[in-house]
Amino acid sequence: MADEQSPNGSNDANGAQEQDSGAASKRGIWGSKAGFILAAAGSAIGLGNIWRFPTEAANNGGAAFLLVYLACVVLIGLPVMLAEITLGRHTRKDPVGAFKAICPRSLWWLVGALGVVTGLAILSYYSVVAGWTLGYVVRTAGHTFTSDSDPNAIFGAFSCCWWQQILYHLIFMALCVAVVMGGVRAGIERWSKILMPTLLVMLGLLVVRSVTLPGAGRGLAFYLEPDFSKLDFKVIVAGLGQAFFSMSLGMGAMITYGSYLSRKDNLVTSATWVGLADTGIAILAGFMVLPALAIAGITPGVDEGGAGMIFTVLPSVFSQMPWEPYGGIVFGTAFFILLALAALTSAVSLLEVVTAYLVDERKWPRKRATAAVGGLALIVGVPSALGCGAVACLSKVVELQGKSVGFLELMDKVFGKLTLTLGALLISLVVGWVWGIGKAKDEIRHGNSGFAVLGSVWSFLLRFLCPLAIATILVFLIIDPGAIR
Ligand code: TRP
Repeated sequence: MADEQSPNGSNDANGAQEQDSGAASKRGIWGSKAGFILAAAGSAIGLGNIWRFPTEAANNGGAAFLLVYLACVVLIGLPVMLAEITLGRHTRKDPVGAFKAICPRSLWWLVGALGVVTGLAILSYYSVVAGWTLGYVVRTAGHTFTSDSDPNAIFGAFSCCWWQQILYHLIFMALCVAVVMGGVRAGIERWSKILMPTLLVMLGLLVVRSVTLPGAGRGLAFYLEPDFSKLDFKVIVAGLGQAFFSMSLGMGAMITYGSYLSRKDNLVTSATWVGLADTGIAILAGFMVLPALAIAGITPGVDEGGAGMIFTVLPSVFSQMPWEPYGGIVFGTAFFILLALAALTSAVSLLEVVTAYLVDERKWPRKRATAAVGGLALIVGVPSALGCGAVACLSKVVELQGKSVGFLELMDKVFGKLTLTLGALLISLVVGWVWGIGKAKDEIRHGNSGFAVLGSVWSFLLRFLCPLAIATILVFLIIDPGAIR
């Protein structure tokens, strides 16, 4: 039965009925039990794991960052993820509608609105970086990277070329709009099944190459041997922000995906699988990138890696693959294609949140909503696309701790770190206190009757640890905004 339905596809518009709740809702549900896990993992696994995680680790003390990050994922990320999914399945609404449903006649819907704005903003620059991966598919396939080419110069020339920046941003956004118009389930469920395992195998092979490169030892030590003197407030801010970004939390993506879940599904195991897959891929990406830093002339912990870091580091790995030059061409091209597809399944979840809002709350037709949001994100993304070298004033918008920050990096700091963290705080407060943990637990017990001990642990983490920890960090950030880096 559920197999004929699509969460967002054309069937939805024809009035696919939910069959397991009795509610006369028009929304569809995921096609299979694995459907949600695949789609949610597809949302979580993306540039956040492969582009952002290694860069954050390199800039924030390596192993110290890794430890903080893992603690944030387990103690804060997973409880918030369960809260979002539960809220979504219970209300079967977009983020704004979900908050209106559980707290009617109050202003809590603004939390959902913050999420919608954040989603649009993240999508705008996410698409730019995803465009870079498309540009790198072309470059690796064309054998631009040889053992004596200079990856820094190549990236520099690419990011300074305004029309390529806009073109690839446009292509990626168009792909995204096409997938969301076709319906998340048909597009994402099917793709993720093939994509995730292939990405895993590919990463595994690249890790083997990277850790056996001459000079890899220093990078590995930096990644695995914690230097606790590096553990300061900035590292904690970065670790927490990275956990939210990577797990797609804090802006309602998981509320929206959870709203297409069936009452029979076990929310706890679903959330755990998604978290495990996401964290596993990020850790692997660290093993791939950090040992290779030395070859690219970056000293981890000393030189700061900018937004283009992996694009300058990975080509040196590809140029040292066996069967030169074919090994590098094949591996490099396949890797960037996979990365672009992983980015696509993530970007789709960002676009889906804003689209779901327009469809559910404003009653827009799905196709029109998707095109409008895609178009808006395209325009909002233009300064980011031009802000990595092409236009000087956009490449140095503010000065933070003596380092000039470009428009794209600024967007990532404000929306990829700050508003996500604020959103996660508010979501944990609303689910834990305003809506009520008892009602949330009742929702989880559909599909998971034995949620007793784990339920108490979750309740403690969500009601006390998450709000206190996140709020403390936000207060310190207000005192010292420079700590966001
Ligand atoms: N998690 C994705 C990644 O790691 C990006 C992403 C998708 C996201 N949806 C999100 C980030 C919602 C924050 C909120 O690449």
